Amino acid sequence: MDEINNLHLTPKEFEEKGKQVLSWLRRYYEQVENYRVAPDIKPGEIRAKLPANLPMKGEEFSNILRDLDEIIVPGLMHWQSPYFFGFFPANISAPSVLAELVSAGLGIQGMLWATSPACTELESHVLDWVADILHLPERFKSTTQGGGVIQDSASSAALCAIIAARERITAYESNLHGCPGKLVAYASTQTHSSVEKGIKIAGIGTRNLRLIGVDDKFAMHPELLEEQIKRDISAGLTPFFVCATVGTTSSCAFDPLNEIGKICQQYKLWLHIDAAMAGTAAICPEYRHILDGIEYADSFCFNPHKWMFTNFDCDCFFVADRHSLVRSLTIMPEYLKNQASSAGTVIDYRDWQIPLGRRFRSLKLWFVIRHYGVEGLQTIVRNHIALAREFAGWIKESNELELAAPQLLNLVCFRHKGGDKFSEQLLNDINHSGKIFLSHTKLNERFVIRMCIGQTYTEKRHVELAWNIIQEYAKKTTV
Ligand SMILES: Cc1ncc(COP(=O)(O)O)c(C=O)c1O
Repeated sequence: MDEINNLHLTPKEFEEKGKQVLSWLRRYYEQVENYRVAPDIKPGEIRAKLPANLPMKGEEFSNILRDLDEIIVPGLMHWQSPYFFGFFPANISAPSVLAELVSAGLGIQGMLWATSPACTELESHVLDWVADILHLPERFKSTTQGGGVIQDSASSAALCAIIAARERITAYESNLHGCPGKLVAYASTQTHSSVEKGIKIAGIGTRNLRLIGVDDKFAMHPELLEEQIKRDISAGLTPFFVCATVGTTSSCAFDPLNEIGKICQQYKLWLHIDAAMAGTAAICPEYRHILDGIEYADSFCFNPHKWMFTNFDCDCFFVADRHSLVRSLTIMPEYLKNQASSAGTVIDYRDWQIPLGRRFRSLKLWFVIRHYGVEGLQTIVRNHIALAREFAGWIKESNELELAAPQLLNLVCFRHKGGDKFSEQLLNDINHSGKIFLSHTKLNERFVIRMCIGQTYTEKRHVELAWNIIQEYAKKTTV
């Protein structure tokens, strides 16, 4: 037995190593703003440094930490640098990281209420809090006919919404016989690619996804949506699902939820609202209007793992009627049967998602919301938006640069007045410097640089330094 016990860390040793890891992370956080944000690494370079031989015998823990420093960290994009302004934030916070540690340490499986009642009940409770923070309609709360669940990603949330919509429109027959092939879904040309992926996986077929045109602010045209629905009905097809976005990925545009919602109501289509990043802004009363029209939605999701200081993965997915979701996804093999599930008095979250197993993710939100309080979260989000507004003001006054889309929340889209080649060169130069990191998109076929402000610890001084760097390169850019 000793031979086996000696393989493990004792609880005391675990604590000692744990302290070393926390100290290691403390040093990382203290240093991260001094690192190159994007690594300067060639493909294969990291792998070549990794020990080639399998460790047949266990190694010293200190060797692992050494290799983290020497091999892994230099190969990272530092998403937690306050100079990271690319893609979207994937921000974290200390309470969230500590909760993740507790979740991993407890190592429970929350697939059924019975497999850890506290996991399910905390999740329901915290998601009802989130519904209150966002002022969602009552029917999205678990105390009514709807409820929230934590998914790994907005992509999974969209897939679940598409499947529930598919089943509802086909009276739950697609699960039995396969999808009839006449179902049609709608999104805009600016909708995130995860919806197209969900349409593929759910067996709808990407040819049956209509990408509706957008206006000059990149928001879906409701009239074009309705015209397309009518055309599809005339062609003998069955419209069933619309995805509206609150804060599109490329430019943070807002689809008009009220108009789209009324159309969905009239034609009895499932309305899913994807507010992956921007949804967080609705925690501030002055930005809650971005969700006006959510009353029409059948489902809604946003990602605290983007902009609400909760490390990946944590997508909050709400449904107005949990029956359609659960009936679409439930399956009950003998080995999962238990009294509580049979009595129908509990939530079994495995029926609200694709996988069976599930982690204790609500701990992260619970720690974060309790640590910061709603007011604390609002303060940080407001600050990010104020910084973006100030940055957009500087762009407006620039001789070399111009805004490429309205700045509404924490994203600023801009380009070089010299045209696409200049913008592309400018972005390459900026990112090559390693001092800050930005990313790009295309709007109206034109190359656009995106500056997204949302890392937990980004302050005014970081945005000012970013601006100095951008200006310096913009003045020098020649193609
Ligand atoms: C609007 C929108 N929806 C969905 C996603 C996908 O998010 P996830 O990685 O959680 O699937 C993103 C990510 O960029 C997004 O911006």
